[in-house]
Amino acid sequence: MPHITLIFEDGRSIGLQASSEETIYAAALRNKLRLESDCLEGACATCKGLCSSGEYRLGDYSEDALSDEEAAARQVLTCQMRASSDCVIELPYASTQALGKAGVPVQRLAMQVTGLETVAEGVVRLTLGVVEQGVAAMQFLPGQYVHLQVPGSEAQRSYSFSNAPALAEVSATGSSLTEAGSMEFYIKLLPSGVMSDYLRQRAAVGDRIHVSGPFGRFYLRPPQRPILMVAGGTGLAPMLSMLRSLLAQQQALPPIHLLYGAASSAEFCDGNSLQHLMDQGLPLTVQRIAVGDGPGQGHVTSLLRPELLHANGSDVYLCGPPPMIEAAQSWLRAQGVPATQVYAEKFLPS
Ligand SMILES: Cc1cc2nc3c(=O)[nH]c(=O)nc-3n(C[C@H](O)[C@H](O)[C@H](O)COP(=O)(O)OP(=O)(O)OC[C@H]3O[C@@H](n4cnc5c(N)ncnc54)[C@H](O)[C@@H]3O)c2cc1C
Ligand code: FES
Repeated sequence: MPHITLIFEDGRSIGLQASSEETIYAAALRNKLRLESDCLEGACATCKGLCSSGEYRLGDYSEDALSDEEAAARQVLTCQMRASSDCVIELPYASTQALGKAGVPVQRLAMQVTGLETVAEGVVRLTLGVVEQGVAAMQFLPGQYVHLQVPGSEAQRSYSFSNAPALAEVSATGSSLTEAGSMEFYIKLLPSGVMSDYLRQRAAVGDRIHVSGPFGRFYLRPPQRPILMVAGGTGLAPMLSMLRSLLAQQQALPPIHLLYGAASSAEFCDGNSLQHLMDQGLPLTVQRIAVGDGPGQGHVTSLLRPELLHANGSDVYLCGPPPMIEAAQSWLRAQGVPATQVYAEKFLPS
């Protein structure tokens, strides 16, 4: 049965199964989600969304509800849409509107620390494994994030997966396999902070950590155009998740170029994982730069050049500190790159 990921405006993402015979609206209702709707006949457009990936069929609908241009741009009427493959559908309203009072709780998993390793100056690679065997792994899209509850406190912090979804995955060291259902994160330690202090002072293998999610509208779209990625610091994490997923897709891929910046060269945290992906045949090229005064040093956005954008369009992914994202977005705007081809995740403080 196709797996459907619904992503709401507030970033909440909910997965469900839909048979190829039932409409997405009906499948959601069966899962206690009431998607926005009115006529249920393809006439009013209330149920409109955007299917960003996957194959589907649309039943009867009126041109007033969905124009040819909208249909060509993969807008869909969920009351008339049937999935023929796994699909991701973005809906232009908050999840609370679909969940009602009973709601579908955010998926919450009890995990335990299985690895804690300093991989660069001030950067920790944290791996979590399942506590109970047989618990379903969290389903997420590469690029999305979860909330980790800091042990010994009520505080939660957001972290982006660096592993690919539901895959036995070669870890950042390239030497070991992470188990199915396990999770990997790259975390920058701040001089003081709730999660930073926990990781620096108390964290130990075996600690229990509650994980909830997944969240986020920053996720890998089907790779139909050349891809440009710009990552600052631990903003590399979701890019790794995307790159690992692309490699696992085992299909012809467009060229991927990654610009990767850090505050100093000691803070590059990729170990041999990017090299490993290239060695495995991923069509990836990488340019890195560290902040400093010398020649060849500077902010990652100083590497942006018009030649990096392809004449027929590129998909651009940006992740890192807010000033980096804002600088990259304004450069891309000046180059005329449509905002619909630019996806960004700001690592905002909680
Ligand atoms: C969607 C999302 C995904 C994220 N993914 C990652 C990730 O994969 N890896 C990662 O390392 N971080 C990530 N972050 C940032 C992360 O959630 C925390 O904000 C960060 O780890 C600090 O948490 P803390 O508990 O140590 O500090 P806090 O207790 O939250 O903050 C301590 C102090 O530091 C300040 N501060 C907080 N964050 C920063 C910052 N980034 N730079 C400078 N000062 C800051 C705060 O204002 C406060 O004064 C992500 C944030 C978002 C919103
Ligand atoms: S609910 Fe009216 S078009 Fe779908």
